[in-house]
Amino acid sequence: MALIFQLVLTSCTPDDQEKTFVIKFPHVTAPATPKGQGAERLRQLVDERLGGRVKVEVYPSSQLMNDDDSLEALAFGEVQMIAVSLSKFDRLTRRFQVFDLPFLFTDLQEVEDFQGSETGQLLLRTLEDKGFLGLGFWHNGMKQFGAPIPLNNPADAAGLKFRIMVSDVLQAQLLAIDAVPQKMAFGEVYQALQSGAIDAQENTWSNIWSQKFFEVQPYITESNHGYIGYFVAVNMQFWNSLPDDIRTELEAIVAEVTAEVNAGAQAINLEHRDRVLATGKSALVELNQDDLENWRALMRPVWDQFADEIGGDVMQAAAAGKGH
Ligand code: LMR
Repeated sequence: MALIFQLVLTSCTPDDQEKTFVIKFPHVTAPATPKGQGAERLRQLVDERLGGRVKVEVYPSSQLMNDDDSLEALAFGEVQMIAVSLSKFDRLTRRFQVFDLPFLFTDLQEVEDFQGSETGQLLLRTLEDKGFLGLGFWHNGMKQFGAPIPLNNPADAAGLKFRIMVSDVLQAQLLAIDAVPQKMAFGEVYQALQSGAIDAQENTWSNIWSQKFFEVQPYITESNHGYIGYFVAVNMQFWNSLPDDIRTELEAIVAEVTAEVNAGAQAINLEHRDRVLATGKSALVELNQDDLENWRALMRPVWDQFADEIGGDVMQAAAAGKGH
């Protein structure tokens, strides 16, 4: 990881009126994804409204660092902003693991209802003691399984080696169907599939499209079994060092971009689904209600396995109004 040290200011001085604050924002997905588009939109709006005073430098496609390294870099103030998948905060907090529970959320609207609830909004502050301030949640989409064979039934996945994000819930989810989970950085997945080091993976249509996983995954099972979304966070020391007027404008910009990303994420995923299927390289496997019940029944015990660590308040707020 390239170490880029940032001068951390502890108080605002007259010089702050002159200087340009740089926000380094590394992320791992392609520019065409919901996150990629959000990061670029943020850069543009900051340029338009705070040009000369703040500059956002976006580094997409893992070009600066992978997600694991970016968590560390944010803690040390080497980068100032991240949007890392909620699944990957495992070692910093267990509370975000609610987002990984299989079949808890049916669609992005349900996730958004939870994120907008009082408990959901409190999650933005979960990592303040680690020096991360959450500014918002951005959606990607619901996950699908890509595999060398059609996965109609969970039994079809038994013995297959699946790449997963660094999350113990995702590990448990795959162990529940007798598959073999392997935690791996996003940027390594295509090659691992191509070389046969892994057989299968789970991801959103936009990531399947933009990472070209469809080239090396003959079947995609449309399971919508889980969610990928991001914790958009800044280094608190940096944030608190900003002049008030800049911080206020940045907050407004992030809120505007968050609304745009979340309103557009589903459409991007549907468009990328169409593109993947149009290549003819991956066949779509659709699940009927009975199939879905089989997947749900086997994976549902994972909720109980992690409920205590996630916390009763979060579990209840997430399930509220869903009849679970
Ligand atoms: C993954 O590692 O599969 C995702 O977290 C990538 C992303 O940021 O959407």
